Amino acid sequence: MSEENPTLTMIRKFVSIGRAELPGRPHTVGGDPDAQRALVFGMQAVGDDGTPIEIGGALLDLLAPRAPYFDQLVVDAITSGVTQIVNIGVGFDDRALRFRDPHVTFFEIDLAHVIDEKRSQLEKAGADQTGLVLAAADLHIDDIGEVLNRAGHDRSKPSLFLAEHLFLFLEQLDVEILLTGMAGSAAPGSVLAVTAEVHPEGFDSAEVLSTADQVMFGGTSPLHTILSRETWLTLFADSGWTVKDVGILTAVDHFAVPVDGQTAQIQTQFLTATI
Ligand SMILES: C[S@@+](CC[C@H](N)C(=O)[O-])C[C@H]1O[C@@H](n2cnc3c(N)ncnc32)[C@H](O)[C@@H]1O
Repeated sequence: MSEENPTLTMIRKFVSIGRAELPGRPHTVGGDPDAQRALVFGMQAVGDDGTPIEIGGALLDLLAPRAPYFDQLVVDAITSGVTQIVNIGVGFDDRALRFRDPHVTFFEIDLAHVIDEKRSQLEKAGADQTGLVLAAADLHIDDIGEVLNRAGHDRSKPSLFLAEHLFLFLEQLDVEILLTGMAGSAAPGSVLAVTAEVHPEGFDSAEVLSTADQVMFGGTSPLHTILSRETWLTLFADSGWTVKDVGILTAVDHFAVPVDGQTAQIQTQFLTATI
């Protein structure tokens, strides 16, 4: 594997370590309420200079609204009888353990080295992996439909697809291919829930990205897709997904960048779509 962007490595760990700090998350009867803590046991998110990242304050505020949004969708899916939950770019997300259910299979997709590390964290934690299928894929190269098919996913049955904090790190073309691929694996009744990074209308997406790269990351940014909301909605529609409640904005402010003498406030928007 080519060397991974260290900021992506840090963020992947940070979000799960942070999520382990969030109180009051739901779980199923057979699920493990301490799963997130167990999965990140001994893990550290470190900055470029090797210093551990302090998990708290503003960073935790950024994370806190996401977990309940996606948790609720998992609860709703299981309650409504969905038996397949596909978590793409899963990182060290604990939902397969937290929401364990005898009728539900969780398919977890990520890069091969992440899947290896997750497997070893699961083993270290002594986790019951019943109903969990881990599958390695590089979404820049691999076709999600084929990956899911090989993993035993049944495209004739409805699924809940999750992509939390993933699209930002993929190239736009890869996001488009992924959206279309998921649609091809989604039986009627399926739901897709994602986070999408959104800049205000009127800004040029490429300029927003390159400014963020220079200003925030000194040219080493792991961020690849930030679009206007209209563009996101078009991408969803073009790939067969209908975004629900388009008139309602569910979002958290992420960061701001100066572009052409104006401030572009980047939001993480939560989008849920049906097929
Ligand atoms: C910020 S993490 C979010 C992880 C998880 N969804 C969560 O919220 O805790 C982004 C994840 O996307 C994965 N990812 C990035 N590029 C990918 C690619 N080309 N193929 C597969 N996964 C990728 C990363 O490995 C990482 O685990």
